[in-house]
Formats: sequence, C-alpha cells, structure tokens
Amino acid sequence: MLAPKPMRHCYATIVGNRPVSEGYYELTIEWPRRAARPEPGQFLTLRVSPDPVPLLRRPFAFSGFDEGGSDGAPGHARILYERRGRATRALTAATPGETLDILAPLGNRFPEPGAGRRPVLIAGGVGMGPIFYWAERLAGSGAEIRLAADTGSRAGGDGTRNAGGSRNTTGTAGRAGGDGTGAGKPPVLAVGAQRGAIVPTELLPEGPELVLASDDGSLGTHGTVMDALGPLLAEEDQVELYACGPMPMLRAAHEAAERLGAPLWVSMEQTMGCAVGACMGCTVRVNDERVYARVCTEGPVFPSTEIDWASAPENA
Ligand SMILES: Cc1cc2nc3c(=O)[nH]c(=O)nc-3n(C[C@H](O)[C@H](O)[C@H](O)COP(=O)(O)OP(=O)(O)OC[C@H]3O[C@@H](n4cnc5c(N)ncnc54)[C@H](O)[C@@H]3O)c2cc1C
Ligand code: FES
Repeated sequence: MLAPKPMRHCYATIVGNRPVSEGYYELTIEWPRRAARPEPGQFLTLRVSPDPVPLLRRPFAFSGFDEGGSDGAPGHARILYERRGRATRALTAATPGETLDILAPLGNRFPEPGAGRRPVLIAGGVGMGPIFYWAERLAGSGAEIRLAADTGSRAGGDGTRNAGGSRNTTGTAGRAGGDGTGAGKPPVLAVGAQRGAIVPTELLPEGPELVLASDDGSLGTHGTVMDALGPLLAEEDQVELYACGPMPMLRAAHEAAERLGAPLWVSMEQTMGCAVGACMGCTVRVNDERVYARVCTEGPVFPSTEIDWASAPENA
C-alpha cells in the first residue's frame, strides 16, 4: 500500500458547481499550489460554510484532476457529490469565486494493477467519482477528454460497449504491454445505479470498456452491476478488481473476487469526525491484529480480504 501524501489545510476557490445527473453535482476547485496532487482514491474534507453549523468537515473523494499549465496556470480538482443532507444541500448553492476551507489530499490511493491483470473497476452511488478518476487515469485518457451527453449511444442494448475511440484505446494499449493493464485490453468500468438517471453519463471517461446496469432498466442491463459483469468475469483469466459504492455492491464484489481468486480493492465509506486519525470515528473491523482500522488514515482503500465482512453493516 502506498504511503499517504502530505496533507494540507488550504482555502480553495470554486470555479464550477453544476448539476450533472439526478441528485448529483460536480464541484470544481482551483487546486492550491502548495497541496500535493490528489491521486485516485484519495479524498478531501471541506467545510461548506464558516458558520458553526454544520460543524464537521465532510469527506469527498476526488473524481478528477487537471494539471496546471507550464505557464503557471493552476490545476483543478473535481468532486462528484450527491445532495444528501445539510452540508451537501448547502454545497449545491456555492458559486464560482467563493472559497472553501479544505484539508487535502487525505488517505491512500488505488494501487496499480498487478502485471498482466486487467483492471475491472466497479462503481455505484457516491463511489462513481473516485472510480471514474481511476478509470480515466488507467485508460490514459487525460482529464479533458469527455464524451457527449448521449446516454442512448453509450450503452448498447446489452449494457456493454467499448468506449475506446482511437485516441484512448491507443493510450491504453500503449501502456498495457509493460504495466499490467491486461494484454492490450482496455480497463473495464462497470457502473450500477438504482435509476439510470443517477449516472452522469457525460462524465464517463473515454477509453474503458463500459458495463452499465440499473435496477429500473433505463441504463444498460436491467439488474445489478455484478450480475451484468458476470459474463465478462467468466471470460477473463487475470483481473484485478476495484470497487467503491454501497455496501451490498462491495459485498457482492468481494464474493465474486473470492470465487475468482482475484485481488479486490475496496474504497470504504464511513462517517468521519476528524479525518486525520485522531478520533477513531471512522473505523471498520478488519481481520488482522489491528481489529479496527481507520478509514481516514489507513484507507479509504483496503484489500477486500482485510475487511471483516461479517460485521460490516448490510446497507451502509
Ligand atoms: C472517504 C469518503 C469519501 C466520500 N466521497 C464522496 C463522494 O465522492 N461524493 C459524495 O457525494 N459523497 C462522498 N462521501 C459521503 C459524504 O461525505 C456524505 O454524503 C456527506 O458527508 C453527507 O453530508 P450531509 O451533511 O449532506 O448529510 P448528512 O446530514 O450528514 O447525512 C445525510 C444522510 O447521508 C448519510 N451519510 C452521511 N455521511 C455518510 C457517509 N460517509 N456514508 C454513508 N452515508 C452517509 C447519513 O446517514 C444520512 O442518512 C464520502 C465519504 C467518505 C468517508
Ligand atoms: S475520522 Fe477521526 S480517526 Fe478517522
């Protein structure tokens, strides 16, 4: 597991904040120069307002990062967030030019896939942001490459498509020989949602092979994302799995990984207090001598074999 990068307390200027799908928003902030580059899997915490309420900072994973220009132009970091409660409702009203009090980057990152293993990335709900960022990075597509917002042309009738236009397929294949992205095959990005409208299809990175599924059948195949992935996983000899999303999805991914004998990395989401390892408010039960691990500093990314799934809540 890679060591966490140094964390900074900074003020970041908002440059964009817009709705991107049903209940989801994309926030873009100017990246403070003295903060380390955020890596896929890492997160920030922010205060939505200087007012005493809501008091606690809220954690959000990075959904993308654009490097600054060589001319000194600042970089930009993005988060994809769901409007849930008091803080995220307030965040939807934030406008460009305002500043946010942030701690970043926090936690560890998704590790590179092992040599010869095809990465299969599985996302649901608020896990879409970090998984999209990791998919974008693995596909080598570059932060600026986006598809047009056209759901119909993205998801084939069977819920799969190869999104690799020549640019990105080339980028992936070029990396694949040497760094284990799976014998020239693009990474797989699998996204599941209760309703298709939740998925911000405009933000799906170009390059990965897509597997889409929704409980209402309006996007991709009808059913769970793990069911939709079944045929692909049955055909692949060597995969490395990554997952972030609701607990039933993580649990199903863990069971699939156990059946396949494949490594799975899960990004865990726990309610957080301090987010710097001091309060023990974010622990998950693990299978080793630690008994409990802090999601904020020892995670959020864990090998799925470390998690004590028997004690994990059913519906977190
Ligand atoms: C490491 C990490 C990364 C995260 N990344 C993202 C992200 O990229 N995008 C995103 O939208 N959200 C993300 N979250 C969840 C996000 O922090 C919460 O949605 C947010 O704090 C809710 O604040 P609120 O005041 O709007 O809602 P609250 O009023 O605090 O809660 C509203 C509802 O959401 C539930 N909730 C709150 N926090 C969590 C949580 N951490 N996990 C599960 N349920 C929760 C509450 O139980 C309640 O039902 C992440 C959480 C963690 C720990
Ligand atoms: S949130 Fe305080 S230890 Fe993790």
